[in-house]
Amino acid sequence: MIVARTRASLRDARARLPGTVGVVPTMGALHEGHRALLRTARRRERSVVATLFVNRTQFNDPADYAAYPRDEGEDLAAFEACGVDLVFAPPVSEMYPNGFGTRIDPGPIAAELEGARRPGHFAGVATVVAKLFNLTRPTRAYFGQKDWQQTRVIARMVEDLNLPIDPVIVPTVRNPDGLALSSRNVRLTPDQRQAATALWRGLASARDAWDDDERSPAALAELVRTTIRAEPLAKLEYAEVRHALTLEPVGRARPPLVIAVAADIGGIGLIDNVVLGDGLVDDGGA
Ligand code: PAF
Repeated sequence: MIVARTRASLRDARARLPGTVGVVPTMGALHEGHRALLRTARRRERSVVATLFVNRTQFNDPADYAAYPRDEGEDLAAFEACGVDLVFAPPVSEMYPNGFGTRIDPGPIAAELEGARRPGHFAGVATVVAKLFNLTRPTRAYFGQKDWQQTRVIARMVEDLNLPIDPVIVPTVRNPDGLALSSRNVRLTPDQRQAATALWRGLASARDAWDDDERSPAALAELVRTTIRAEPLAKLEYAEVRHALTLEPVGRARPPLVIAVAADIGGIGLIDNVVLGDGLVDDGGA
């Protein structure tokens, strides 16, 4: 496995990679969810590139950026174990040299939900992902379903800017109690960790109601809200039923849909979702 720290060394190493190239962009603090992305890419592609860069421009809260868990040694070992061929782990000065000024505005798809909660977040994500795409020149790029709005912002950007890349969405990996894996989970106390299961419990009750033919978006969303509100340590940020691709509000619940939830637990923002509709998330096929 080659570790490139500069754009120049990345370019040289990338030029030597054979066949299709899958990129897995990460900010490190790797967990099973990242490993699922890496394994899917490894299965599909001749060459796998991972990126490791904690992108400060997507953190609207400097304290959140400072608290983001970092352990490069462990992350590199995980990349190696997952069969990554090339890691790009640049310092900030390589990604944002003096004079850097361009930002991608992803438009309305980034305005609500997480975009409203974290102003500027998706402009930071879109800008860094576009740079990582240009630097690594992948055939496909792998992202986790948990950050559903992020996947839609990136899909929109790929289409709008005619980027020659296929985004692949890999299903959320969960703990046995349903909590979606997230790098933020390590910051939860045991009580908060227990409270955090309310996100999945709420989503699961909405999905059960959907299976029982509930088709009112308001009723489905209310089931999630009620579950979160019943949890004293959780503060509901939003629970919404939206069109899964455009993220626009829907009048009647008809696939493709996403039920998206966000809650604050002890100052830690957690998100999760359920997607209703075929072919939106990778099915593990080749
Ligand atoms: O999902 C993440 O870890 C980040 O938003 C990403 C895509 C690596 C961009 O910094």
